[in-house]
Amino acid sequence: MDAAIREAGERLPLADIHARVRHHVPAAEWPALAGDVAAIQALKRARNAVVLAHNYQAPEIVHTVADIVGDSLALAREAARTDADVIVLAGVHFMAETAKILNPDKTVLIPDPAAGCSLADSITAADVRDLRRRYPGVPVVTYVNTSAAVKAESDICCTSGNAKAVVESLGAKRVLMIPDEYLAQNVQAELPGIEILTWAGHCEVHERFTAADIREAREAYPGVTVLAHPECPPAVVAEADFAGSTAAMQAYVEARRPAQVVMITECAMADNLAIRNPDVAFVKPCNLCPHMKRITLGKIRRSLETLTHEVTVPDDLIAPARRAVARMLAVRA
Ligand code: 13P
Ligand code: SF4
Repeated sequence: MDAAIREAGERLPLADIHARVRHHVPAAEWPALAGDVAAIQALKRARNAVVLAHNYQAPEIVHTVADIVGDSLALAREAARTDADVIVLAGVHFMAETAKILNPDKTVLIPDPAAGCSLADSITAADVRDLRRRYPGVPVVTYVNTSAAVKAESDICCTSGNAKAVVESLGAKRVLMIPDEYLAQNVQAELPGIEILTWAGHCEVHERFTAADIREAREAYPGVTVLAHPECPPAVVAEADFAGSTAAMQAYVEARRPAQVVMITECAMADNLAIRNPDVAFVKPCNLCPHMKRITLGKIRRSLETLTHEVTVPDDLIAPARRAVARMLAVRA
C-alpha cells in the first residue's frame, strides 16, 4: 500500500492555502503563520528541497507546506525515490534517520532533533545482539521506530503497514519482532502458525488507550465506526472495527465513508482526515504525541534557512541498516 498524498507542493495563493486549514487556524492567527508558509515555499524552490510529513503532523503543516504526507512506510518509499537535494522530515528522528539511510548523499534535516519516540528509546543495538545470542538462528524483524544502530543489527524492518506481510515473507516458524510488544501481539493474532517473540517496548501514545474507551465511545455514539492503530494493546484492537497503519485507517475512511468515526490514535490523524473528508464526523478520544508536536512551521522554516539540524548516520551503520530497510521495501504489502 502506498497512500502518500501530495499536499501543498503545488503553488497556490496563500488565501487558498488558508482555506484548507480554516477550521484549525482562525483568520486572526493566519497572518502569523502565513509568513512562515510563504518563506518555506520559497526556500523549498531555492534549495530543491522536499518536505515529507507524517500523518501525525499538525494540519497547519500537512495542508500548507508538506509535499508528501503519509505513514512511515510511504515516507520511507518517498525518501527512496525523491530527486530533491534536501529532505526535511516533518516527523520524528527515526523517520529522518531512515531517509538518511536511504539517501546517504543527500542533506536530510529534522526541524527539531529532540523529536524522539518511546519505542526507539526502548531498545539498543546491544539488546538486539543479546537477543540473537539467546535465540540463535531466529530472524529479527525490527519496527522502523528504532535507531539506525538497531536497524543495522536486524534482518529486516517493518512498519505497521506491512508487519504481517514482512513476517510472512520470511517463511520462518519462529520470529523475533521488536521492539513494539503490542504490534507483535497484534500480528501474532493474525498469524497463529508462527511463533512471534517480542520485546517490552510500547508507544507512549497508543498504550494509554483501553478497551473501556472504545466501549464508552460506542455507548455515547451508537453506530460509530472505531478505527485503531496496531500500536494499541491487543484488547483495544479486539474491540475496534478495523486496525491498521495511519495510511490504512485513512484508506478505510475514504473507501467506506462511515458517517461517524472514532480514531484511536494520535489527535492530528482525525484533524487531517476531517479536512480531506468534510462529510465524515470525527469524534475524539485521542492522545497527543509530544515528539511529533515538537515540529512547527517556524522550526521548518529555520531548518530550511540554516540547513539544520542535519541528520547523520555513521558510515559503518549505513550499509547494514539500509539492507534491512531495503529488504522491507521489496516486500509487497
Ligand atoms: P504509521 O504511520 O506507520 O502507522 O506509524 C505510526 C506511528 O506511530 C509513527 O510514529
Ligand atoms: Fe513514537 Fe508513538 Fe509518537 Fe509514533 S506516536 S512517534 S510510536 S511515541
